[in-house]
Amino acid sequence: MRIVLVGAPGAGKGTQAKFISKHFAIPSISTGDMFRAHLASETKLGMAAKRFMDVGELVPDEVTIDIVRDRLAQPDAANGFLLDGFPRTVPQAEALSKLLAERGTPLDVVLELQVDNDEVVSRLSGRRTCSTCGRVWHLDFDPPREVGKCDVDGGELFQRDDDLPETILRRLDVYAEQTEPLVAYYRDACLLQSIAAHGALEDIAERAIEALEAAPRRT
Ligand code: AP5
Repeated sequence: MRIVLVGAPGAGKGTQAKFISKHFAIPSISTGDMFRAHLASETKLGMAAKRFMDVGELVPDEVTIDIVRDRLAQPDAANGFLLDGFPRTVPQAEALSKLLAERGTPLDVVLELQVDNDEVVSRLSGRRTCSTCGRVWHLDFDPPREVGKCDVDGGELFQRDDDLPETILRRLDVYAEQTEPLVAYYRDACLLQSIAAHGALEDIAERAIEALEAAPRRT
């Protein structure tokens, strides 16, 4: 199955991607994670992306489209994938559609996670990530047993640079201006399924999987 996950920053895309990719046995591909991996390795691309990410702006389309094209060419994406955080602009969506048409493997479904801005701010302000395994926690909604330590491997938890209050607000504006138009774009293409992304993680995952199972497959 070929899935795009769309939703505001903090809507829970990364959290739900884990449930969905496990259920459908497909790789979860996050452009944000790919940029952060480049940054951790101090590549030229990572350093260039950091300038945009730290202030809540989007990395330029041409850079982003190139890394997704390379990633989708990997063998594990041949039989399906879940894209988390890509596309984020209409030109990115058009590039993805062209790329998939060339491969003869169109998208099956776009799942929108709907959440309001107040919830986003509280989710992102309390998010903490493990510095070694990358597991995402929340100080109130999904806290680790020991403060500041990951339950999985004991790694130190850190706060993402772009989860500071002023950057969260900018990311929300950027989402409204540049990414929300994708909802109409995919609705017009009859690919859109939307679910409420409030409540317990497992309940949202159940709604997500139900909506995805119900969507018609394109091939
Ligand atoms: P990216 O990493 O994609 O960030 P984002 O879209 O802003 O999304 P987040 O990772 O912040 O949130 P999420 O929806 O995954 O939520 P999560 O599951 O972690 O992108 C970062 C930056 O990279 C962008 O700003 C941009 O600069 C660049 N970039 C990336 N892709 C790009 C592209 N295509 N084009 C251009 N630039 C690009 O959950 C958040 C928190 O809430 C967690 O703590 C979690 O535990 C908690 N939580 C989750 N669900 C619930 C729930 N149901 N109830 C309570 N808490 C919950």
